[in-house]
Amino acid sequence: MRFLLVSPVLMGIGFITPITAQPTASKVIIPKTCFNSQSDFDANFNYLYPWGSDHNGAARMDKAHVALSDNTLTLTAQPVKGQKDASHGGKAIPIHYLSGAVNAKQHFTVSPKGGFDFSGDFQATTTKGTWPAFWLTAVTGWPPEVDMAEWKGSGKISFNTFNTSSSVLAKDVNYPSPGNFHSIRSELRDLNGKDVQIKFYMDGSLVTTQVGKGYVGQAMYLVINLQMEGSSGSPGPTTIKNLEILSYNP
Ligand SMILES: *[C@@H]1O[C@H](CO)[C@@H](O)[C@H](O)[C@H]1NC(C)=O
Repeated sequence: MRFLLVSPVLMGIGFITPITAQPTASKVIIPKTCFNSQSDFDANFNYLYPWGSDHNGAARMDKAHVALSDNTLTLTAQPVKGQKDASHGGKAIPIHYLSGAVNAKQHFTVSPKGGFDFSGDFQATTTKGTWPAFWLTAVTGWPPEVDMAEWKGSGKISFNTFNTSSSVLAKDVNYPSPGNFHSIRSELRDLNGKDVQIKFYMDGSLVTTQVGKGYVGQAMYLVINLQMEGSSGSPGPTTIKNLEILSYNP
């Protein structure tokens, strides 16, 4: 018996385009066609997290729970028994699901006077226990971490930027009609040669502006995953499409 808790996480398309000081997208790094076919996907993304199959929740990621169709990336979580625990921060975490995660092959480093735009259309579950996320995290050490969109099973969407584990700018707002797609956009820009300003948009409206300390020059991974439980309580679905990333780096 298969329970689909499901989540189509869909990634639509990714684009990345570099820009110079005046935001004019000039280079597509990940094209909008990135989910058109397996070869388009493989050119731009890897399966799992950059560090492997496990992280900080009850899902273990594998390739079988990532699907591509209609230029959409879908991540689906499925209950499982008999898995060995995950380990995170010195703690054992029981695994209750198999699910999907992908990470961009390209790493993202905001250059002086540069930046990136990340955008996509997401259909994300807000059911208790589901924890989908579209986020950036440090390649070396930690932070940087920018949660460009995170749904922690509360009915809200969260936008967060970390300076340290205890110094974090966090904004939670209502997430309307989770069965519909919503456009999510994050604009990262060099603020002062050291710090990066992030403007977070949902459905075309600016929700909040945050600043990451010392993020200029720090390489980041892009991760899209359907984690489960952890910060979110218990299970449900997610979908993303039209992902686009533009680089404004000179
Ligand atoms: C993080 O550091 C930046 C740059 O100094 C600052 O603007 C921001 O307010 C800090 N965040 C928090 C949560 O203190």
